[in-house]
Amino acid sequence: MSADEGWVRVAAAEDIPPGKLKGIGVPGTKLVLAVVNVDGTLHAVDSTCPHREGPLANGRLVAGEVECPWHRFRFDPQTGRGSVPDAYAPIPRYPVRVVDGSVEVLPAPIPENGATPEGDAVPQTGTSVEPAPLVHGT
Ligand code: FES
Repeated sequence: MSADEGWVRVAAAEDIPPGKLKGIGVPGTKLVLAVVNVDGTLHAVDSTCPHREGPLANGRLVAGEVECPWHRFRFDPQTGRGSVPDAYAPIPRYPVRVVDGSVEVLPAPIPENGATPEGDAVPQTGTSVEPAPLVHGT
């Protein structure tokens, strides 16, 4: 698989500035993600809240966490874990990157063990995929 295979453009990087959450349907899939910018680093998580399936894509970013609009549970987009971590499974996270000013996601969730869908180890901090720093053009 090439380095670019499977990645899908979902937004312009400028559409997701620091502190923002954008709900995005991934073209060609049924996948809906909440893509957030935490201090200049993008993260993508599944939109379905593990509490009662609320739409995290319609939530907001609060103190670096994704807040569900229904009952206000919060989730860390870097780990997928909720504010009550033992109550619910972590929300799936997806690889996200910025290429030439476009946000791209890979519509395959990051395994809990941090390996890529091909089974390769992902160079990263914690258990998240290598975050995509936003690079503003000239
Ligand atoms: S459905 Fe998300 S907190 Fe209840």
